Parts: sequence; structure tokens; C-alpha cells
Amino acid sequence: MTEKKTMNYPATGTLHAPADSEVLLRGVLVYGEGEPADVLVRAGVIAEIAAAGALSTEGETLDLPGQVLLPGLVDMHVHLREPGREDTETIASGSAAAARGGFTAVFTMANTDPVTDNPAIAEMVWMKGQQTNLCDVHPVGSITKGLAGKDLTEFGMMAASEAKVRMFSDDGKCVADPQLMRRAVEYSKGLDVLLAQHCEEPRLTEGAVAHEGETAARLGLRGWPRVAEEAIVIRDALLARDYGGRLHICHASTEGTVELLRWAKEHDIPLSAEVTPHHLVLTDEKLETYDGNFRVNPPLREHADTLALRQALIDGTLDCVATDHAPHGSEEKCCEFDKARPGMLGLETSLALIARLFVTDVPAGQEPQNWRFVAKVMSERPAEIVKLPGHGRPVAVGEPANLCVVDTGRAWTAHGADFASKASNTPYEGEDLPVKVSTTLLRGRITCRDGEAVTD
Ligand code: NCD
Ligand code: ZN
Repeated sequence: MTEKKTMNYPATGTLHAPADSEVLLRGVLVYGEGEPADVLVRAGVIAEIAAAGALSTEGETLDLPGQVLLPGLVDMHVHLREPGREDTETIASGSAAAARGGFTAVFTMANTDPVTDNPAIAEMVWMKGQQTNLCDVHPVGSITKGLAGKDLTEFGMMAASEAKVRMFSDDGKCVADPQLMRRAVEYSKGLDVLLAQHCEEPRLTEGAVAHEGETAARLGLRGWPRVAEEAIVIRDALLARDYGGRLHICHASTEGTVELLRWAKEHDIPLSAEVTPHHLVLTDEKLETYDGNFRVNPPLREHADTLALRQALIDGTLDCVATDHAPHGSEEKCCEFDKARPGMLGLETSLALIARLFVTDVPAGQEPQNWRFVAKVMSERPAEIVKLPGHGRPVAVGEPANLCVVDTGRAWTAHGADFASKASNTPYEGEDLPVKVSTTLLRGRITCRDGEAVTD
């Protein structure tokens, strides 16, 4: 056996609550169903579930009457900006935002400065996340060195590192060269790691800042056509068909992408896909005021696209929700629309937006969903796709206590300035949201209490 490297941080997400620690969640509705229950967490594990009022503890009791208990949320797509742009987000501030949003694990993209294209940076990101201890922060390794789209990185070295990198992506950029992508697919297959593609044929999006359509034409903004996304979705689906591997489509945004995914899944192609809250709820009509907070890649599309994306998430054609949390400084957002950096905050609003759209305030004509659906698309499926142990597990005795609790009686108004995130570029500024995450537990430790991250 080789000597274990001496490191001052643990090798996996195993920081547990002390063996004798207990937390009692009193009066919760497990998955929003049935009668109120008491859930006792001991030493980081769900120890007992009984009728409300039946359990007690020497440890901390949280009174959460009628609140909805779900597995801790998992976000496959965030940008925490460390290293390089710590002025806009750090692993610590992003972890606090994640805890406030109900997340217990996030995957942070490789488009940092320097790029996460080697084990040293990946280990640094993982270590800082574990030191912060508010959320498991998994680094995503880049597919190509320096995100330059020329040479593959050493997936194997990153996968074998202390960070155990299990997902690779050049997100922010597309791996446009088809031969290189084919090699990446073949390489990833041998290691059983996930490849996540930011689908954007760059020759179709030169200078593009908004969805190519009537709104962009009227506002004088250069258009980003749907085909720029769809051409890569189908190309990569065919690469996955012929060379295997596990391929994931980042931030699906068009009706056509949904049709192609449906075809791919019917043909048993190993492909998964995510959709962001903003592509489900916002359209390019928001660009009317040229507010840079609505600039994002891929761009906000049309109403018909949002309807197709919603239906696809309901029927499983789209697997999961990912926020694409993309913090930017105010000077990078409050400027001319076509100079604004693309990207929106997501971690602290996503649960409320998804709950509103699918459970509490379902639009006419759309089939209502329950809280199990929310657990599926925001926790279980993402954990399954990335093969992440310990997260996205059932709320049941013996399971790790990675949990979140939603207060369905607590409406609130989104204000970027109130977020734990260092940035405030939310497209939902001033918007009323119907429910709020009150509590998050990471392996039995309270990381969010009464809606605030526990940063002591
Ligand atoms: C992301 C960013 O800011 O890093 N921006 C965005 O508009 N989504 C990159 C990306 O995910 O494409
Ligand atoms: Zn992207």
C-alpha cells in the first residue's frame, strides 16, 4: 500500500458532526406529505423518525411546524470565482449562499483564474470548501488546458487527486472541435467520469448577446440563434451514441434541444441534461430595459421555449435543475447591455422559484407537481448523474443527514443586497417569492438556521 499523503484536510466529504451531537427537527412534513413528524439526527445520521411530539433530545431542538423536509439540494453547476475573482465570490461566500439556498453539495466550474485544469487547483478548491464546512464544494476539472480548446487535461490525475474530480467541463466555452470532443468522450469513458458540455457553436454566436428573435431585432442587439446550441447537442449526442461515456448537457434553453434530447433518450443514448431556473421562468422580453442583469449565456429565450422546458422537466426529458450561479461585480453588470458580463446569481432563489413554478403557484394549463418532484430534480437526479455518494439520498433512518427544510408559510422579497453571495446580480430583484429555506444540515451540522448561513 502506498503511503497516504499527509494533508491537513480530509480526503472525502467526511467532516461529521461529533459522535454525541443531536439535532431534533420537530413537527416537519417529510417530503411535504402525511402527518407532522419529529426527525432526530444523531452523529450526522438520521437516527429516528416518529410522530410529532414523540422525540426529545439533550441537543438542539428546531421547531419547524408544518415545514417541508427534503434531502439537501445538489447543484451541478455553479461558479464560485475562486481562484481569481474573489472580489465577486469566494468558496466561503458561495458556500454560505449555497447553505441559505438549501444546498449540501455544489459543483463549481473550472473557468477560474488560473483555470481548474490540474490536481493542485482542484485540491485547493476542495480543501477550502471542507474548511468552510457549509457545503461540499466539488471542483469541476476543465476538459482542455486553460479552456483553450486545444489539448485535453489529465482527467485521470484530477480524478485520482484528493479532490476526486468526477465531472469535467469547459463551461463558459464549448468544446467546439469535434475530434477533440470525441477524444474527451473516449478518455472519460475509461475513467467513468462525467463530461458536461456548454453547447454553443462559436461561429454562430460571434458578438451575440441576446436570443435571436423579434426582441433582439427591435432592441438592436446581436442575436444568438437556437441552432448554435442545438447543433452541438445533436453532435455530442451522436458522439455519445458511438463512443459511449457519460455526457451531460449544461443549461438547455430551447424547444429544439428538448426535441433532440427526447430523440436521444428514446435511442438509449447515455445523455443527461439540466435546465436553469431562469430559462424556466424568464424570457427575452426582460431585455426591454437593457438591464445587464438579464444578460446570460445561453440567452433568455421565448415563451414557447420556457413551456417546452417545463414540460420536459416534468416528463424527465430534462433530468434536473442546476442554477448556473454566476456572480459578477456591479460594474460588470450596470453598464451597456452588450458590455455586461453574462451570468446571474442562482443559489439563494432557486428552491423558491422551482417550488413556485411547479408546486405552489402552478400556471394554468400546467400539471401540478409535489415536493417529491422538487427533491427529484434538485437533489436525487443531480447526485445520481454525478455519482455522488451521501447526497440526494432518501429521507430515512440510517441515511446521512444532508437535509433542507422549506418554510412554506414564509413569503419574502428577493434583494441582491441581502444575499450571502458577495455579488448581487439577481434578475429577481424586488420579486416576491412564496417559500423560503429555513434550515439546512450538512452531515448533521446546522449550516443554515432560520434562513441564515451559520458562519461561526
Ligand atoms: C457563466 C460565467 O459567468 O462564468 N456565465 C453565464 O452566462 N452562464 C459561464 C457559463 O456558464 O456559460
Ligand atoms: Zn455555460
